[in-house]
Amino acid sequence: MQVISLNKIQPRWWKEVVVYQLYPRSFKDSNGDGIGDLNGIIEKLDYIKSLGIDVVWLNPVYESPNDDMGYDISDYRAIMKQFGTMDDFDRLLEGLHERGIKLIMDLVVNHTSDEHPWFRESKKSRDNPFRHYYHWWDAEKGLPPYRWSIFDKENNAWKYDPGTNSYYFHIFSEKQPDLNWENPAVRKEVYDMMKFWMDKGVDGFRMDVITCISKDTRFPELPADMPLSQWFPYYAKGPHLHTYLQEMHQEVFSKYDSMNVGEASGISIDDALLFTDEDRNELQTFYHFDHTGFGISKDNFMYADDSNRDLPSWKKIFDKWDKVFQEKGWATIYLGNHDMSRMTSRFGSDHPAFRDYSAKMLHTFLLSMRGTPYIYNGDEIGMTNSNHLNIEAYQDVYTINYYQQLKERGQDYKGFLESHAHISRDNGRTPMQWDDSAFAGFSNTTPWLSVNENYRQINIAKQEQDPDSVLHYFRKMIGLRKAHLALVYGRFDLVDEDNPQLFAYTRMLGDESYLVVLNFSDRTAILDADVDTERSQILIGNYNTNHLNHSYRPYEAVIYKL
Ligand code: NOJ
Repeated sequence: MQVISLNKIQPRWWKEVVVYQLYPRSFKDSNGDGIGDLNGIIEKLDYIKSLGIDVVWLNPVYESPNDDMGYDISDYRAIMKQFGTMDDFDRLLEGLHERGIKLIMDLVVNHTSDEHPWFRESKKSRDNPFRHYYHWWDAEKGLPPYRWSIFDKENNAWKYDPGTNSYYFHIFSEKQPDLNWENPAVRKEVYDMMKFWMDKGVDGFRMDVITCISKDTRFPELPADMPLSQWFPYYAKGPHLHTYLQEMHQEVFSKYDSMNVGEASGISIDDALLFTDEDRNELQTFYHFDHTGFGISKDNFMYADDSNRDLPSWKKIFDKWDKVFQEKGWATIYLGNHDMSRMTSRFGSDHPAFRDYSAKMLHTFLLSMRGTPYIYNGDEIGMTNSNHLNIEAYQDVYTINYYQQLKERGQDYKGFLESHAHISRDNGRTPMQWDDSAFAGFSNTTPWLSVNENYRQINIAKQEQDPDSVLHYFRKMIGLRKAHLALVYGRFDLVDEDNPQLFAYTRMLGDESYLVVLNFSDRTAILDADVDTERSQILIGNYNTNHLNHSYRPYEAVIYKL
């Protein structure tokens, strides 16, 4: 038997999978209340299977008052009533497993809902047994050192509680108080809860804002004019982060063959391996956000900024990160999720002439890079932004509270909406476009968030019929990744790296080698590389007709076998 060396990388199943992120609220409504639910997902299991993906990451489905769409949990061991029951959950898990698909859950343990029984108790008195489950600042000490809070109406992470004359800390909305991980009882509760789900058969977790669980709880004053980029030591990556992750591994992950991925603002290339080197028993993988600033203002993430779309720098980000994980650790690759606007609009083009080409080009990218790819539901058909300009169209606490702040301060809230319309999170949360019937076949009533108006042009039923569709291309690309281990583990090297339009790279493993060329622009681009592309075998391409040597049409994508 031929043994292929994986370029010193340890093979692991979770490195070889393709993950499909499923946002349950917007996937499929089965009971006519305009909100997606677990039975809706069950109805679509065969569709999910047909994609060829291996793992589903389910956004939070736990009981929640939905201030932040499920990221404010009031009961970690119950299913949100709007989504169904625990029996429905068990059937969903079984249905996925029967089809050979694994399920990872969202683990939201930096904070709970303020309606969680722990917080209700904690608020009752200063000597309540649950008091130290959260971070409190007694008012007689004076005002707590200021911390901004990105979802707060007043941009203040401390909320005064008159009942106990104290302030509690919340990085996100005031309905999301931060748990106090310094308290061993909190940690034990979390590990027990994780085991509860793992014992049910769940295959792992996506760990929400996991770097925030340890923070400097002395709460020192923020330095004057602190740049946004230096917020971490005050909000995250505290002194015990490694200890807590190792403890979590010991208590939970070491006992199961599972997969995990941390949402990890603040981890940099310098300390990435401290978190992901397998010998350290912390995380398997994590997401960073270095590449998601493409098209977003550097000074304020709530605003779009088209001048900030520099492809050569963007390529270097991927290159730098790839080098980190050449032998140890492992990357994640993603261009969309429930916190981002649609990848086709953001990184490609939603112009009707280019929409399908660019969606296919982006799938070629996601599925030919080194790292575990995460594909966000709806992107498999190239869903696009809705770009709403009226605040009534939004449901996201982030957008609504920021807008309110501007309005109250007499600042330019209209300008904000015009810019934010391109990047708001609700762009990525509109209901799935199943067909061209009313409400896009998502529901038989008005959905919780309006369906994108383009659902008659872009929908799954239509794309199923069209062999040339984004959907079929996506399936084909998954098939290619599965058939060529080099696309998973192969060495990654940029080609023509300063080219401002093309993202080109090779993937090499053993004697297999591929060249991937992606045109990220709406103009023809020329590749400067020492290879005769006209004579190379094309593995896949998103245009049906052959192209000229080294010349790539708008949003063209080609993979060659070299
Ligand atoms: C990150 C999640 O992805 C986002 O949706 C949520 O609002 C925050 N964490 C707070 O939990």
